[in-house]
Amino acid sequence: MRIPMVAGNWKMYKVRAEAEAFVQDLRAQITHLQDVEVVICPPYTLLESVIRAVQGSPFQVGAQNVYWEEQGAFTGEVAPSMLYDLGCRYVICGHSERRQYFGETDETVNRRLKAALGVGLIPIFCLGETLEERETGVTFQVCERQLINGLHGLTGDQITPIVVAYEPVWAIGTGRNATPQDAQEVISYLRGRISEKYSSAVGEQVRILYGGSVKPENIQALMAEPDLDGVLVGGASLEAASFARIIQYG
Ligand code: 13P
Repeated sequence: MRIPMVAGNWKMYKVRAEAEAFVQDLRAQITHLQDVEVVICPPYTLLESVIRAVQGSPFQVGAQNVYWEEQGAFTGEVAPSMLYDLGCRYVICGHSERRQYFGETDETVNRRLKAALGVGLIPIFCLGETLEERETGVTFQVCERQLINGLHGLTGDQITPIVVAYEPVWAIGTGRNATPQDAQEVISYLRGRISEKYSSAVGEQVRILYGGSVKPENIQALMAEPDLDGVLVGGASLEAASFARIIQYG
């Protein structure tokens, strides 16, 4: 049984007062939390405030990135154990914005996944094709390459807790979401590759989310797809009202 997940990626938005008000509003607006795991991923500077604000609620907190070394002279970086120590339980790895603007590669994503798992953080491992790749018909190859390279060197047991997030780059922040059928097609393909490489039991257990212009208006249709286990939400996770509607999609 894969428990559905709704994760919010705040990207580089909000200061403390806004973050605290958001959590208060969200707590007030969640009236019927069904069987769904909710994760909020604020910028590093807000992690401590949000972790404090969600105490006593079912919400979990994740970071948006992590370095792969445990400590050392790496100015500006944050180690996995530092996040865990703070109370983070999830961390986004390999988001397309990091691949696009900050030189993230499959190899560095792989290092981050291993380091995060090493301290008990659950990675939300992002992958997805660009518009050009979709238009040239290489979506499946690109997503498969990112998946297999990202998971390189990990065993089936190690990858079972990982949450994969399929985020087509052309659907991020554009208002142009993949159709539920498009998302299902790629996600079921990825699940098939996981089953093939590890085992069908592992393939059945790994949660795979969709991300890219998810809104209250399209959440139900997305969640109806059998292989889609939840969503990673950018813009619509910044307002408590829209995030609450997405969480309470059922
Ligand atoms: P949007 O929901 O704003 O398209 O962003 C998706 C995303 O990048 C989540 O990580």
